[in-house]
Amino acid sequence: MDTIVVGAAIVDGDGRLLAAQRAEPPELAGGWELPGGKVDPGEDEYTALLRECQEELGVVIKVGDRVGGDWPLNGGYVLRVWLAEIVGGSLEAREHLELRWLSDGELYDVPWLPADLPIVRAVQKALNEG
Ligand code: CDP
Repeated sequence: MDTIVVGAAIVDGDGRLLAAQRAEPPELAGGWELPGGKVDPGEDEYTALLRECQEELGVVIKVGDRVGGDWPLNGGYVLRVWLAEIVGGSLEAREHLELRWLSDGELYDVPWLPADLPIVRAVQKALNEG
């Protein structure tokens, strides 16, 4: 079975999306992603998403609607993404090079990882419809 990676499309009260710049591995460093990570064995996806956001960003999130279905990643991973908002903690880049809040007009100002780009389009669509 594919390894599941969960990702959070974190949106603030002004409708801006949180983008995170990867620090590693070297082939992905500098690219921007929706924060998240691998689901641990025996862990459910919801718990993994909360854990990753706590570990990587120092925040507690509230999870909302799913964005799309299974997004394919290289290496036999699939990415599952949910809208989310920050409800606690203090946002900081603990594992990323940089974090940026992108407004609708800025969404494509960063070089998203190829896997994340179509997801960002789907997030944009969901936000504009919502
Ligand atoms: O943090 P952890 O080691 O659990 O996972 P990760 O390294 O953040 O993500 C596992 C894989 O998913 C990496 O190879 C990333 O390239 C990919 N990924 C992605 O393409 N886009 C994301 N938004 C999150 C992860």
